[in-house]
Amino acid sequence: MSAEKILVTGGAGYIGSHACVELLQAGYDVVVIDNLSNSKPESLVRVAKITGKVLNFVEADICDKQALRDIFSQHKIYAVMHFAGLKAVGESCEQPIKYYQNNVYGTLVLTEVMQQFGVKKIIFSSSATVYGEPNTVKYTEDLPVFGATNPYGKSKAMVEDMLQDLPVADALSKSRDPWKIILLRYFNPIGAHISGLIGEDPNGIPNNLVPYVSQVAVGKLEQLSVFGDDYPTLDGAGVRDYVHVVDLAKGHLNALQALNKITGCKAYNLGAGKGYSVLEIIAAFERITGKSISYKIVERRVGDIAENYADPGLALRELNWQTEKNLDDMVADTWRWQSANPNGYE
Ligand code: NAD
Ligand code: UD1
Repeated sequence: MSAEKILVTGGAGYIGSHACVELLQAGYDVVVIDNLSNSKPESLVRVAKITGKVLNFVEADICDKQALRDIFSQHKIYAVMHFAGLKAVGESCEQPIKYYQNNVYGTLVLTEVMQQFGVKKIIFSSSATVYGEPNTVKYTEDLPVFGATNPYGKSKAMVEDMLQDLPVADALSKSRDPWKIILLRYFNPIGAHISGLIGEDPNGIPNNLVPYVSQVAVGKLEQLSVFGDDYPTLDGAGVRDYVHVVDLAKGHLNALQALNKITGCKAYNLGAGKGYSVLEIIAAFERITGKSISYKIVERRVGDIAENYADPGLALRELNWQTEKNLDDMVADTWRWQSANPNGYE
């Protein structure tokens, strides 16, 4: 029997490339579609180096219906892992149309073509940002998906909403082959593959904490700005649930295996269930890299919340998934990648 083939949209990107490694190592065949708008093909060369396996790469946009049709005609796809999307919060506020076009319309085109070819299994990269600003710090999946504070977050909430309607339509038409959809709400993915060959390679100055800190540690950036030290948290700095990207990638494999068991569309948090503050992250970097991290406290960043972390219980119960790596692993692996590739894939 031939291996099941998975279409990975955005597979050349940070999380997608780690998912490709796990898929190939688990014996799946992989087809990647990526327009390389925020990635380099070198990441896929490294995926092949890590796994000793080849994947099919199609350089194309998910908004290109014909390119998608060609893929589904040429390959018997079992399921889609849908990572392709734009993710810069600030840019999304400046260019909302670009974000809705890419993330929302792109998913519409993808699901339309999937439906035409009878491929009705999809795992979607969502985000804890869809919860907006709830009155709790520990997020469970039954919180309302409401009040995302920027177009990026809204685009994720819109796609979730849209996807939920597909199995409803199947039920109305009594489809014998209904959609099976898993929404994975990531908390804060960090870290890199243990080989140091693949990792996060942001364009320009990073917006997110860990890529910024690691570029300070490697000497590319001078000083970190800590956005606020007067939050009602253990040390006043913002607290987030950081999750190792390899744990996250493995969560997608578990989700793939769970697809047949679920009915309709289900959302799961992927997080560790524990938060760390910005100052704790800095301290961990200093301890593991042996470098001192220069930082200054500045004003809070607009749109930031004090603290959040996942309740990851549902993912444990229904996907049999939980994080295996700890903060030291996350920092050590980030550092191995960053120090071996100070300029990313260039
Ligand atoms: P990334 O930018 O590294 O990867 C996304 C990939 O998709 C890139 O390779 C990019 O070139 C590609 N892409 C974008 N638009 C495309 C299009 N229209 N057609 C084809 N390819 C396209 O980002 P990532 O960190 O790997 O994130 C993957 C997914 O997870 C995204 O949907 C993101 O919104 C979501 N997510 C990420 C985080 C995070 O912190 N990294 C958190 C929550 C959710
Ligand atoms: C951000 C996005 C979120 C997105 C996620 C992953 C915002 C408001 N939220 O989450 O929608 O899903 O990235 O892409 O942009 N920090 C500093 N100094 C820095 C950078 C960050 O102190 O230079 C602090 C932040 O205030 C926060 C923590 O570090 O407390 C983590 O920030 P970041 O990595 O940007 O992630 P989020 O804000 O959680």
